[in-house]
Amino acid sequence: MSERPYVIDEMISAKSIAARIEELCKEITAEYRDTDKLIVVGLLRGSFVFIADLVRELNLPVEVDFLEASSYGNAMESSREVRIFKDLRGEIEGRDVLVVEDIVDTGHTLTHVLHLLKARNPRKIKTIALLDKPSRREADIAADWIGFSIPDEFVVGYGIDYAQRNRNLPFIGKVRFVEGS
Ligand code: IMP
Repeated sequence: MSERPYVIDEMISAKSIAARIEELCKEITAEYRDTDKLIVVGLLRGSFVFIADLVRELNLPVEVDFLEASSYGNAMESSREVRIFKDLRGEIEGRDVLVVEDIVDTGHTLTHVLHLLKARNPRKIKTIALLDKPSRREADIAADWIGFSIPDEFVVGYGIDYAQRNRNLPFIGKVRFVEGS
């Protein structure tokens, strides 16, 4: 945990997030309307709150699975190396899949995960990210659905952490370091 004191300024309210999820889920439900079952793959740990709200707005039969990949340690800069810490429990061959990411930053995590999952021959695989930081992009990738496009700020809340803290905030906030104490 960082010793540097910081405050969190609200950037996206819980109400705005809920409204955006409702919109996105209408589109996703339409896109997968013919599916017998959609496998919703949450990328741990940052997507756990998002995925919980998302699946409850989808008017489709869904199965939920998780994968843990990380290009982050406890630092505020992302490294290029992506490690898989936990793989899916189920098979996705021939299935309809939606990969749920909290933030697409450099894009290395999503690129790596998509590469891995596409090799398992799903019928259809699409991606959704709650937040997108296009100005930080290094890999040539864009999620199929994006909640909010944000500037290059370090954010927390709604499942997203800073050094494992603040995941339980109901809104998205921006970390601002302050002097003193
Ligand atoms: P990427 O591989 O650089 O796209 O990194 C994506 C991952 O970095 C996200 O899933 C987050 O876990 C983490 N990340 C990126 N930006 C932030 C941030 O502002 N706050 C917290 N985690 C972040």
